[in-house]
Amino acid sequence: MKKLYFGSNLKMYKTIRETTEYLQELIRRTEDLDRNEMELFIIPSFTSLADAAKIARQKQLLLGAQNMCWEEQGQFTGEVSPIMLNELGLDLVMIGHSERRHVFLETDAQENQKVKSALEHGMKTLLCIGETGEQKQYGLSPEVLRTQLKIGFYGVSPEHIPNIWVAYEPVWSIGVNGIPASSEYAEEMHKLIKETLAEIFGEEGRKIPVLYGGSVSPQNADEMIVKPSVDGLFVGRSAWEAGKFDALIRSAMEAYKKVSTCMVG
Ligand code: PGA
Repeated sequence: MKKLYFGSNLKMYKTIRETTEYLQELIRRTEDLDRNEMELFIIPSFTSLADAAKIARQKQLLLGAQNMCWEEQGQFTGEVSPIMLNELGLDLVMIGHSERRHVFLETDAQENQKVKSALEHGMKTLLCIGETGEQKQYGLSPEVLRTQLKIGFYGVSPEHIPNIWVAYEPVWSIGVNGIPASSEYAEEMHKLIKETLAEIFGEEGRKIPVLYGGSVSPQNADEMIVKPSVDGLFVGRSAWEAGKFDALIRSAMEAYKKVSTCMVG
């Protein structure tokens, strides 16, 4: 059975106190889940990271940053560098979330610089990709995803594969106005992503976990996770209460186990 990935980006929500309380509760609730079967990660605000890092130390939970500058230091007002993230002992950095691309107008070339810098600084790197509703409407999803992957990982050596994760988050599916992708559509795109990763990195590229994100909820998590090319769920709103996220994870893990036992049997 493959390892499953469950994580949440807390976006610009939760104060330091709210974040630490959330993490403590999530760790307590998920304590019994076997970390060989699943990886749990949370990506809180920058201001919460120092306190969150103290709580996540026992590695029951990987902790990530929502963004990073590619430079180690310099005249980059308002940015946070990989050295600063390393200083906190962070495990992970997310690059190219839809809101970074579409609200803050980051380009594929900038995501590439960030990806390379994060990997060179030893962090796991979660590259987020996804097409807009308009691009989907014109039948361009495959082209868009392939472009984001090919530029995003341009010049990245396959030796970094163990530290690379990808999240497929269609822009039209994210947030309160998002429409969740069907599990069939997600599977089709995940397959294409895996093929592209194999093209970029060689066959080993297929080992890179590809997570689905965008309006994941208790209603669709189980049918998403059982799809063969979906390795995990990257959850927003439905993860921001520890109890609800724990329940979603448990249900998805059970659904996955049921399907994989059927396949073996
Ligand atoms: P959502 O957010 O689950 O609230 O749609 C997903 C995301 O932006 O990662």
